[in-house]
Parts: sequence; structure tokens; C-alpha cells
Amino acid sequence: MADIVVAVDGPAGSGKSSVSKAAALRLDFNFLDTGAAYRALAWYVIERGVEAGDPRAVVDILPDWDYHIGVDPDTYAVHVGETDVTEAIREPRISGVVSSVARVPKVRSHVNDMFRDIMRRAPKDGIIVEGRDITTVVAPDAPVRILLTAAEEVRMARRSAELTTENAGDVAAQLRKRDAADSRVVDFMTAADGVVTVDSTTLDFDQTVDAVLDVIARQT
Ligand code: C5P
Repeated sequence: MADIVVAVDGPAGSGKSSVSKAAALRLDFNFLDTGAAYRALAWYVIERGVEAGDPRAVVDILPDWDYHIGVDPDTYAVHVGETDVTEAIREPRISGVVSSVARVPKVRSHVNDMFRDIMRRAPKDGIIVEGRDITTVVAPDAPVRILLTAAEEVRMARRSAELTTENAGDVAAQLRKRDAADSRVVDFMTAADGVVTVDSTTLDFDQTVDAVLDVIARQT
């Protein structure tokens, strides 16, 4: 059971996954990427030939969705059944439908129960959990809660640089669309009471990791 839960929220392209993972490695903590769970469900929805925009059909297949995510930042991998989907869930076809799946309330309560169970079983002293509603819904009592932000143009530029094979304009448009859809479901752009904002607009990767580690050190 992890004693220290560090909740990190933020929009797409804020660097929260890579920063949270790097911080977890530095602290020898576990790490949970909750977006990967929603992506793995979107992958399964497509695999089963279900219409992602049909909430009832998505909820119907939830009991069959056999999902495993590693919480060790060194060996992080995501599986659905026996299939390793770690790479596949990053494909644009998944990013394009994940918001439709994630906005279904029964999906959210199902995955939130899973996340809390994973947090309870995490073997290391601490776990960094990152997503969109961790500071507010999944772990509102976490001793450390951080909102990781960056100016929109910086987030778009970072994400486009990651996906070199794609058209940067398309990436920015898809990211904007996804942020708009997601923010209708949860507010991840403003810090809730007691949540510390780390703005990475003018920070490089290492500086952002240091800023997050600094907040953790001050609050634990
Ligand atoms: O963080 P990432 O971009 O991989 O998240 C993929 C999607 O999962 C988001 O666009 C959002 O629809 C959903 N998500 C969510 N709540 C979370 C984490 C992710 O709704 N806590």
C-alpha cells in the first residue's frame, strides 16, 4: 500500500505523463497513467467493433474488458487480455475516439474504482497518479495535488514534435478538439482548492521534473 499519493492533473501536451513518470523514477515511487486506461478501453471498443459514440454499447462490454497496467515506471506496459497495447493506444485512431468513451459516467465510475484499487495495492512507498480528475475526483484527499499546465501554443508544439510522422496542424487541431470535449466532462484547466499549479511554459523537461519534485518535497 502506497502511503504517499501524488495526484497530477493537466491538459494534453502539458507533459504530465513523462514528467510524472520521471519524478516517480527519481523517488522510487509507483506511477499510474490513468489516460492509458481510457485509451485501452477505447482500443477494446474498436477491437470489439462497438460504436464509441454509443454509451450503452460501451457500458455493455465493460465487464469483458480485461485490463492490466503496470505501476512500476521501469517496466510500464498496458495489456488488454494477452495483448500488449502499450504502443497501439497512442495511435491517432485511439486519440480520436477516447473522449467519447471517457465521457460515459458508468465508464468513469468503473475505472475510478480500478484506479483506487491499484493505488491501494501499489507496493512502493508512494505513487504518482496522473490524469484529468485525480486531484478532484479520484484522490481529492491526496497529500500532494498538482495541476501541471503550459500555454496552449507550447503544448501544441511539444505534441507535434513527438509525432513527427504526422502533420503538425492536424495534431494541434485534434488536441484542441480533445481538450474541448474533455473539459466538458472534467475541469482540468483550473486548480481546485489546495492544488498547486506548476506552469511549465518556460521550463524545459528537467526543470519541470525538478519543480514537481520540489512541490512533493514541500508537501510531504
Ligand atoms: O492523458 P491522455 O491524453 O492519454 O488521456 C487520454 C484521454 O483519456 C483524455 O483525452 C480523456 O478523454 C481521458 N481521461 C479522462 N480522465 C482522466 C484521464 C484521461 O477522462 N483522469
